[in-house]
Amino acid sequence: TGAFTYDPGFTSTASCESGLTYIDGDQGVLLHRGYPIDQLAEQSSFMEVAYLLLNGELPTKAELEKFDSTITRHTMLHEQLATFYRGFRRDAHPMAIMCGVVGALSAFYHDSTDITDPRQRMIASHRLIAKMPTIAAMAYKYSVGQPFLYPDNSLSYTGNFLRMTFGVPAENYVVDPVVEDAMDKIFILHADHEQNASTSTVRLAGSSGANPFACIAAGIACLWGPAHGGANEAALNMLREIGTVDRIPEYIARAKNKDDPFRLMGFGHRVYKNYDPRAKVMQKTANEVLDKLGVTDPIFDVARELEQIALKDDYFVSKKLYPNVDFYSGVILSAIGFPTTMFTVLFALARTTGWVAQWNEMISDPEQKIGRPRQLYTGPAQRDYVAVDRR
Ligand code: CMC
Repeated sequence: TGAFTYDPGFTSTASCESGLTYIDGDQGVLLHRGYPIDQLAEQSSFMEVAYLLLNGELPTKAELEKFDSTITRHTMLHEQLATFYRGFRRDAHPMAIMCGVVGALSAFYHDSTDITDPRQRMIASHRLIAKMPTIAAMAYKYSVGQPFLYPDNSLSYTGNFLRMTFGVPAENYVVDPVVEDAMDKIFILHADHEQNASTSTVRLAGSSGANPFACIAAGIACLWGPAHGGANEAALNMLREIGTVDRIPEYIARAKNKDDPFRLMGFGHRVYKNYDPRAKVMQKTANEVLDKLGVTDPIFDVARELEQIALKDDYFVSKKLYPNVDFYSGVILSAIGFPTTMFTVLFALARTTGWVAQWNEMISDPEQKIGRPRQLYTGPAQRDYVAVDRR
């Protein structure tokens, strides 16, 4: 017993003060350091947004160049880590590899584990942002049995990631600007989202003084779940399963049936009770990418039609269920050539910027304490131990 407020799922508990991200779920507004997400996605770059989240202001040209070259300098992984990958089964889910490899970074960059030094914290943050594309691309390469590619620092952050993923040593990989631009937008749209489950996990892990690599590995583990970052993979699998527009009503009926655990993946959000502003940009980007790449994919028609039907259906209207960021991202990623198992990995790559920015903000907060929720105890009252032969 105890006089604690019971708030399962933390629907009404503010766990921290934060100056990073503002969400108005009723209006469908998302701001990073005051800037609307659609403006950032349309006009900015992922590197700029990463700088903004970490440092609080958009960089000047000189600051951006310096940040870019700092990140570029940290793109390589310790060579020994390649052997770590080789210990995994080839068919391992790349998120399983991500949890392991990112956690293992703390064994390779000891200098970055001193969290009391703000300079070391910043170096650790840069390392994480810089190495994530390399780590993610290697997870992909390992799964398809192709050689790992070293980073090419003459390319942009996103271009370099695409080359490490889809390039092979035998050929000169040319980054397609349409794909690079779309990928950069997807990264921006996933960069931060205030105190979601994985970010809260990173903060909770970090509140005990754990090193940043361990904290981000904890965030990746949490992100993996289908109710969170795993929804993009689940949404695309669902769209493929539906397959054709005529089968949509059957799935809508299932989603509405209380006795059926099925949910429309990529629909609904804890905070947004209006259209997710990220989904708007994502839908537009999906249109552009499929158009420019000349890809026709029936699942895009299924997605658009499903959205139209759901938005007019009483069940979805009354519960304020709208498409979220994950509803259209899979259509684009699939058109670019990523297997569904890589979708959540890309989310993790992008969200790493938000995670490290939130972690830095927390460690520098003078009010920071170890996170330690209480509970309402529902177990038995005190009783005496009974020896096993008398039970
Ligand atoms: N399909 C059908 N019904 C739904 C859905 C859905 N996608 N989402 C919520 N509902 C219903 C739910 O059954 C409940 O009905 P009732 O009040 O009659 O019991 C009501 O709407 C409220 O749902 P909830 O589960 O209590 O809401 P929550 O805030 O706990 O969950 C959510 C939010 C995102 C986990 C949930 O909407 C969901 O499971 N969506 C599908 C998974 C998904 O797309 N997740 C990605 C979220 S965005 C990216 C990210 O943050 O990672």
